[in-house]
Amino acid sequence: MSNSLHKPGEIAVSVQHLGLTYTTTIDKRPTLKARLKTMGRGTKQTRVVRALDDVMLDVAYGSVLGVVGANGAGKSTLMRVISGILPPSQGRVEVYGKVSTLLALGVGFSPSLSGRANVYLGGLAAGMSSQEIENHFEEIADFAELGDAIDAPMRTYSSGMYARLAFSVAVTVRPDILIVDEALSTGDARFKEKSLEKIKELRSDARALILVSHALGTVRDICNEVAWLHKGKLIQRGKPDEVVDAYASFLQVGKSAAINEDV
Ligand SMILES: Nc1ncnc2c1ncn2[C@@H]1O[C@H](COP(=O)(O)OP(=O)(O)O)[C@@H](O)[C@H]1O
Ligand SMILES: [Mg+2]
Repeated sequence: MSNSLHKPGEIAVSVQHLGLTYTTTIDKRPTLKARLKTMGRGTKQTRVVRALDDVMLDVAYGSVLGVVGANGAGKSTLMRVISGILPPSQGRVEVYGKVSTLLALGVGFSPSLSGRANVYLGGLAAGMSSQEIENHFEEIADFAELGDAIDAPMRTYSSGMYARLAFSVAVTVRPDILIVDEALSTGDARFKEKSLEKIKELRSDARALILVSHALGTVRDICNEVAWLHKGKLIQRGKPDEVVDAYASFLQVGKSAAINEDV
C-alpha cells in the first residue's frame, strides 16, 4: 500500500502526565454472619487500581519503542489508552496518525467465522476498502501460512495460527502507528523472525512502532528506545541496552529475593 506520509523523527505519539485508574465493583461473598445482618443481600466493594501514574513518553516516526516491565506493570493499559480503547483518567495522549493495535491473541476476530471472513472484517475495520482487501488477500494469507485452514472457522485455530493471521492483517493494512502487545510470543521461532523483518520494514518506511515484549534480546535488537514500567510508573526510559540491563538486573534481584523468601 501507500508509503508513509510522515518524516522520520516527527512525533507520532505523545503521552503527557498520563494516569489511569480502574474502578471495579466486586461482589463480596458474604459470611453467614454478614448475610444475617444484610438479610441475604451481598455486599458490594469497590476495588481501585492505579494502573498508570504520571507517565510521560513520546514515540517518533521511523522508530520502535520497546516497553518492558513485570506483569501488572500497566503495559497493556498504556497500549489500550494509546489505541483509544480506554480514556485517560488524568493527563493526555496525542496521536498523530492511524493506529493499528495487535493485542495478544488477536482480540477482535470472530471465532465462528473463517479466517478469510475475518481478514475482510479486520481490513474493513482498519479502513481498507473491500477492493484493497481483495488485492492484498493473497499476501495476507501467504504471510500467515495457514494453507487451506484460511477457510476453516477460527475457533479451530491454534493460538499460533490465530497470532499469525492477526499479525499478517495488522502489518498489511500499513498503519502509521503499529502497537504489538506481546502478540509475537505465541508464534514459532521462524515466524517470529519473519515478523521482526516486517517490523524493520515498517520502521524504515517511517512508520512508528510500539513493541511490548518479554523477549529482551529482541527488544535490544529492534528497538531504538525502551521504556520500563513498574506498578504504573515509568521507571526508566532511554537507550535499549541501558534500560534492558537495568530491568534485567532488577529481575535478577527480584528472583534472588524470592528465593531468599522461600528459605
Ligand atoms: N479491565 C481491568 N479492570 C480492572 N483492573 C485491571 C483491568 N486491566 C488491568 N487491570 C489491572 O491494572 C494493572 C495493570 O495491568 P496491565 O496493564 O494488564 O499490566 P501488564 O500488561 O503490564 O501486565 C494490574 O494491576 C491489573 O490487575
Ligand atoms: Mg499485558
